[in-house]
Amino acid sequence: MKTAPLLRIDAISKRFGGNQAVDHVSFDVQKGIILGLIGPNGSGKTTVLNMLSGELFPDEGVTYLEGRPITRLSPSQLAHLGVIRMFQMTRVFSRLSAFDNLLIAGRAMGLTAAVALARAQSLIEELTLEHVQYLDAGHLSGGQKKLLEFGMCFMCPPKIALLDEPFAAVHPVMRKTMSRFIQSRNQSGQTFLLVSHDMPIVKSLCHESICMNTGKVISQGPTRAVLEDPNVIEAYLGGDHE
Ligand SMILES: Nc1ncnc2c1ncn2[C@@H]1O[C@H](COP(=O)(O)OP(=O)(O)O)[C@@H](O)[C@H]1O
Ligand SMILES: [Mg+2]
Repeated sequence: MKTAPLLRIDAISKRFGGNQAVDHVSFDVQKGIILGLIGPNGSGKTTVLNMLSGELFPDEGVTYLEGRPITRLSPSQLAHLGVIRMFQMTRVFSRLSAFDNLLIAGRAMGLTAAVALARAQSLIEELTLEHVQYLDAGHLSGGQKKLLEFGMCFMCPPKIALLDEPFAAVHPVMRKTMSRFIQSRNQSGQTFLLVSHDMPIVKSLCHESICMNTGKVISQGPTRAVLEDPNVIEAYLGGDHE
């Protein structure tokens, strides 16, 4: 028997006033994949993520996690089930050290002190934050703070991590750390849905991609094929450039 995809999105739609932001979007996210979600500005990507993480409810359509409908659950219920939109679940305490922020996040997720300590130590290394681990988090750069937030979300790895433009406005060195983190976590089975405009990163990280334009899915499949799809090229050339 075929197992259900990790996440199934079945014909979800969202309208804002007269604007059909998302129009009957359907796709599956298989367990263990890094799925790219691309498309020109305003094509509905963030609205789709908002509907997956419970910030918005679709007007129509159903979403499923491992076969179970999750359409009208709240962000905290979804986080509890393992659907995490980064970085909405994290709150960095600026007067505490980076290390203590990881510990607190882990304790809040129900880890024992010993497990939280071990995971915090290994995440600090994985995210190359050793040199700033005892600094107040308020003194970290924007990119370091994002890496810390990644770490906080991964104190208890979610079933699926939803990422909306994680690389935007991040220093290239940290962008590299972030993409290596995503890749290595994926190699140990972590599933990601990644919205990004950084085509070289999408190409290198995402096994498959979905492209949206004006609220609809216009192409899906292996990333290379999607990026070469004439419909996709036309969507990018025809609309707003980013
Ligand atoms: N909260 C909102 N209220 C009204 N219109 C919105 C809202 N959020 C998004 N939109 C509109 O929905 C469309 C899709 O937006 P969005 O999902 O942010 O696109 P993307 O993330 O692909 O750039 C756009 O036309 C945008 O202006
Ligand atoms: Mg967006």
